[in-house]
Amino acid sequence: MKKKLGIAIIYGSTRKKRVGIRFVNFLYKQIIKQGHIPYIIDPLEKKLPLLDKRFDDFAMKNLPKNISYIQKILKKSDAFIIVSAEYNHMPPPALINLLNYYYKEYDRKPSTICTYSVGDFAGVRVQSPLRALLTQLGSPPIKSGMFQPKLIDNFDEKGVPKNPEDAKKKFLIFYKELVWYANAFKSYKKNL
Ligand SMILES: Cc1cc2nc3c(=O)[nH]c(=O)nc-3n(C[C@H](O)[C@H](O)[C@H](O)COP(=O)(O)O)c2cc1C
Repeated sequence: MKKKLGIAIIYGSTRKKRVGIRFVNFLYKQIIKQGHIPYIIDPLEKKLPLLDKRFDDFAMKNLPKNISYIQKILKKSDAFIIVSAEYNHMPPPALINLLNYYYKEYDRKPSTICTYSVGDFAGVRVQSPLRALLTQLGSPPIKSGMFQPKLIDNFDEKGVPKNPEDAKKKFLIFYKELVWYANAFKSYKKNL
């Protein structure tokens, strides 16, 4: 039997009445159902200051708790799912801030970008800037993702979709691809 993969879901919203957490909860439960290990990295729960030093620039004995916690999750993850809305056609600032703290933790691990909106456009305009950023971080973004318009109408607070069959189908399209890449990269690295 194949070893379980660790998959970090990195969420970008710190807004008080945020709704993207519904999408995060849906993805989290789907990964469990598929037999792998999900982690949620949430910048509201683990607040990070505006970046003044990257993780590697800290003296290890002075490492703030949240910065260290997130590093450990990223390090043990084999793949990343970025969950982002559009704020004025760009990714939320907390997401960019968080991603930039780390570097080698992403290296040679695949990523996918899942976007959402409350309106009609599913946040897809953040694909391009996030793809450029993830590429530079060493985490190649795969071609597929899940793009959810009208999030509030389609998922409840716990992340239960209104149309479970349809949501699962959309999830599996990118998820299978992400797992394929994560396993391929992992086995290649093992045999180097
Ligand atoms: C600062 C700001 C800018 C926004 N800009 C866009 C936008 O460019 N395109 C869009 O479709 N929705 C935009 N929205 C609406 C978001 O899709 C909606 O607020 C969504 O709930 C944000 O995700 P969150 O609740 O997880 O923070 C914007 C919302 C905020 C707060």
